[in-house]
Amino acid sequence: MKVVVIIPAAGLGTRMTSAPEAKGKKPAPSKQFTELAGTPILIHTLRKFAASPEVTEICLALRANEIEPFRARLEKEAFKKKVQLVEGGEHRQQSVAHAIAAITAAPDDIVLVHDAVRPFVTEEIIREVIQAAQKYGAAIAGVPAVDTIKEVQRTAEGALITATVPREKVVMAQTPQGFRYDVLKKAFDEATADGFLGTDEASLVERSGHEVAVVMGSARNIKITTPADLELAEFYLRN
Ligand code: C5P
Repeated sequence: MKVVVIIPAAGLGTRMTSAPEAKGKKPAPSKQFTELAGTPILIHTLRKFAASPEVTEICLALRANEIEPFRARLEKEAFKKKVQLVEGGEHRQQSVAHAIAAITAAPDDIVLVHDAVRPFVTEEIIREVIQAAQKYGAAIAGVPAVDTIKEVQRTAEGALITATVPREKVVMAQTPQGFRYDVLKKAFDEATADGFLGTDEASLVERSGHEVAVVMGSARNIKITTPADLELAEFYLRN
């Protein structure tokens, strides 16, 4: 059994720069290329999977103009694993779909999908998601919600609460999300046929009727999305 890791890294990361600041300026680098301690976030993330003994190969989805410069950057890392580069799509889901189309895997091989901007994933989380994906066919890392979760209706000024969701019924989904190849492929084929667009891979697998297990992620496994996340990431790296 092999384990292929797909890393969608073709987003623009517009939340990293506030709109007024961005006006009139050159577009900021995509958030996955923002540097953390002098190294692009994406490289930090790749190093984690390259170092994981469970992982066989990696497939990275990048924006077309970023493929060649990144290939040169990758050579410096001299990873001992195959790292395939494919062109991403308009949405995260399409970027992952392009990677699924580019990899070769047997039905019971495991495919992990991981956000480029979650560099604090640990070897333990990777291993537990792989093991649960083998056992259940699909599994994600998640953490319990610590805040009270409200369902809202958006309004012009903000939002109005419509319900309070019992906290014990909620987990915050992280990545890696791991799947048997046949389970993931079927879910993507069905979503494409139905025009469904999800914000993670598990949502596609859920709607295809397959159960998805949750294993414990980590509060440190943050998705670096805003400048405040970047400050926190620098703090984690120093400590
Ligand atoms: O923008 P969002 O937070 O959903 O991005 C999550 C991940 O998906 C990031 O790693 C981003 O680079 C990736 N992505 C992608 N292709 C897109 C949009 C986002 O690979 N078209």
